Amino acid sequence: MNRSLEGKVALVTGSGRGIGRAIALKLASEGARVVVNDLDEAPAKEVVATIRAAGGEAVTCVGSVVATDFAERFVGTAVETYEGLDIVVNNAGYTWDNVIQKMTDEQWYAMMDVHLTAPFRILRAAQPVIRALAKAEAESGNRTVRKVVNISSMAGLFGNAGQSNYSAAKAGIIGMTMTLAKEWGRLNTTVNCVAYGFIKTRLTEATADGNATANIGGREIKVGVNPDLMATIERNIPLGRGGTPDDAAGAVYLLCIPESDYVSGQTLVCGGGLTGL
Ligand SMILES: NC(=O)c1ccc[n+]([C@@H]2O[C@H](COP(=O)([O-])OP(=O)(O)OC[C@H]3O[C@@H](n4cnc5c(N)ncnc54)[C@H](O)[C@@H]3O)[C@@H](O)[C@H]2O)c1
Repeated sequence: MNRSLEGKVALVTGSGRGIGRAIALKLASEGARVVVNDLDEAPAKEVVATIRAAGGEAVTCVGSVVATDFAERFVGTAVETYEGLDIVVNNAGYTWDNVIQKMTDEQWYAMMDVHLTAPFRILRAAQPVIRALAKAEAESGNRTVRKVVNISSMAGLFGNAGQSNYSAAKAGIIGMTMTLAKEWGRLNTTVNCVAYGFIKTRLTEATADGNATANIGGREIKVGVNPDLMATIERNIPLGRGGTPDDAAGAVYLLCIPESDYVSGQTLVCGGGLTGL
């Protein structure tokens, strides 16, 4: 079978659950060998087991993307295990909402750390590896295009009440993406963003009383959406429904395949037809 990502080495942060999980499974099903990261060990292991059971290759790199030593460890896992690095997907994250007058510095910096500083450090650590691979390929006349896909949000493009921290970080990653597309063109590496609208995951699932929380890195963070609000949101989506994690993974996949080798510095909105919030 001719698979579009055969033998590629893909790193996906936050791929134990939700959108990241679907991305890891999709890339693996197309032949990529995947480094699966998550804050939580059990879901990361489950994803690796699922990939291996389907005949694919994957390895875990458990830990928080905000840890100062994480980026080197993550890139090192790819290089040591699979001797390569072709695709990086910066997906790990969560929301921690409040109106600005009630938002703490801790909430602000938590969003900057996970959505902006962590991708910056990962891509900084990846650069020497990509540069060395690109140089060797140029010398051998064997040109390979590498792919970075940073996960943003429509909140980063249009704003969303209660998310000044999150929307600022998700706008920031779009700026970093456009800059790296300029810096890394000579490394034959495309750098793009996918900005999601409303994708049904733990972060956004309907919760009966709107008071569900998840333990994220030791903090109890409010997650989920009140069912009435959920119904209103879905009515406003042109395609008439929230996206699934597989829908979300499809948009990332488009930016990883050879057909998108000349697309760089772009933000692809994956929002079921929404053109604003
Ligand atoms: N669901 C949506 O509607 C939506 C919309 C726009 C953007 N996004 C973005 O998509 C990405 C994935 O979100 P999701 O909806 O799949 O959420 P999710 O909670 O279902 O999955 C996110 C995963 O990331 C992990 N994670 C969180 N913080 C981490 C850290 N510090 N280090 C390592 N792993 C960490 C979690 O443990 C979890 O497994 C996030 O960046 C989110 O902001 C989601």
